[in-house]
Amino acid sequence: MAKILHVISSPRGEASNSIKLGNAIIDKLKENDPGAAVTVRDLTNGPFPHMEEAHLNAFFTPVEQHTEENKAAIRHSNEAIAEIFDADIIVIGAPMYNFAISSVLKAWIDHIARAGITFRYTAEGTPEGLINGKKVYIAAATGGIYSSGDFTSADFVTPYLKTFLAFIGITDVKVIWSEGFAIPGVKETALEKAIDNITL
Ligand SMILES: Cc1cc2nc3c(=O)[nH]c(=O)nc-3n(C[C@H](O)[C@H](O)[C@H](O)COP(=O)(O)O)c2cc1C
Repeated sequence: MAKILHVISSPRGEASNSIKLGNAIIDKLKENDPGAAVTVRDLTNGPFPHMEEAHLNAFFTPVEQHTEENKAAIRHSNEAIAEIFDADIIVIGAPMYNFAISSVLKAWIDHIARAGITFRYTAEGTPEGLINGKKVYIAAATGGIYSSGDFTSADFVTPYLKTFLAFIGITDVKVIWSEGFAIPGVKETALEKAIDNITL
């Protein structure tokens, strides 16, 4: 019975393509594992704060010296990291906003990268991810087409997420595209095609 974490970063609720695709991925996972438990982290409902001095101070102060202010500032980060360590499978809904991930997803990422907890540098200065054994599905949603064709180099969503996830040790990453939601003749069937293309 796997534990699945569904990370939502679209504010569009039931209209959201990335949420629908993420849910379809989870439905497929549950066909093989009906008892799988799903936790939803909706980053648009109580978003993570942007990095402020207080967060960085808390990150770089040893935990045994944490003041009440440090403890309050590091709460989001500790919660997000605990959810990731607890999950076996993480489904990340990733709408493309201006060629990149949405700022709520970026804020979540900024709270996850913690030296000594999710990554470390070896004596040689090589980064080493400290999160092992997770599988990630990226449920990407875009107005244009980026999985192939002339605009692949304008996709700063999936290469970025893969690079970050590898940095923290997660290399088993599958991208499921839903794309073309701004293109007449494509948008009408884009979600259906994406759902049909889900392979686990
Ligand atoms: C603020 C904003 C910026 C967007 N920027 C892009 C973009 O750069 N490229 C693109 O192909 N689509 C872009 N889109 C379209 C979305 O990626 C598309 O509507 C997608 O379905 C959004 O995901 P969602 O349905 O889960 O909310 C943008 C949409 C919004 C609202």
